[in-house]
Amino acid sequence: MEIVKSGGEWAESTYEAMAPVYDDFTAHHDYDGWLTDLLVALERRGLQGRRLLDVGCGTGKSFMPMLPRGWQVTGCDISQAMLDLAHEKAGEDVELAVADMLELPRFGEFDLVWALDDAVNYLLSRDELERALKGMKANMAPTGLLLFDVNELIAYRTFFAEVTVVERGGCRLVWHGLAEPNVAPGSICESRLETTLIDGEAVERLPDLTHRQRHFPEAEVLAALEGAGLECLDVYGHGLDGIPVQPLDVEKHTKAIYIARRVAC
Ligand SMILES: C[S@@+](CC[C@H](N)C(=O)[O-])C[C@H]1O[C@@H](n2cnc3c(N)ncnc32)[C@H](O)[C@@H]1O
Repeated sequence: MEIVKSGGEWAESTYEAMAPVYDDFTAHHDYDGWLTDLLVALERRGLQGRRLLDVGCGTGKSFMPMLPRGWQVTGCDISQAMLDLAHEKAGEDVELAVADMLELPRFGEFDLVWALDDAVNYLLSRDELERALKGMKANMAPTGLLLFDVNELIAYRTFFAEVTVVERGGCRLVWHGLAEPNVAPGSICESRLETTLIDGEAVERLPDLTHRQRHFPEAEVLAALEGAGLECLDVYGHGLDGIPVQPLDVEKHTKAIYIARRVAC
């Protein structure tokens, strides 16, 4: 009998192994600038309060800039190893819990729930997306907002179809995108990450990691939001500069950003 792994199970094995090199691989991302722009977009939609649930928070890059802004943060992730690194950065100031966003517990009532840097693309079907969104909704205050980003098709036709090499602090990371350059909308795409640790003469090759993500076209995201009882307020797009603009242009933008609220009863 074929055993089909959920997106959460794939992500857990990938990130348990990737945790020690994750911050090096993403060192070029300007989170402070990105989050500043996202907060402006949220404030336009009446963001109130300072309670944040960061779903798929990883090593904490997506919530650390919120602490000096006075936010009270709860973070969750499927990978304990990623959370251990988040804890090293945030100490006791942030509540952290292992959780699969497919079975998200109710941590409380939050003014803002977000899932950043394509955490949602690790879900592998429209049903998984809707299930995760329902769990996020259950954590939103009545006036709360939800924000998440997804990788657009261009990201799968370039980054997920190409080789990228990152060298930092004695670590050489080679990302082999395995997607076809003309991959179809809604496809599942894989990449293989090779990690080599270099310390003088000593060279150690770590086991390769597979990243498995699914592209979610806008129509599918909107349908999943509706199915979860959420109303989409805004869709933005941005390229590698990370500056969100409207409208989303799937010919140019590598990411789409969705902002939603609970459907009023
Ligand atoms: C690309 S990282 C982003 C981490 C963090 N949000 C950031 O911006 O640096 C994606 C994160 O999503 C987590 N993740 C993927 N699928 C998940 C799931 N089903 N439930 C919880 N976390 C998940 C991974 O473990 C990983 O830490």
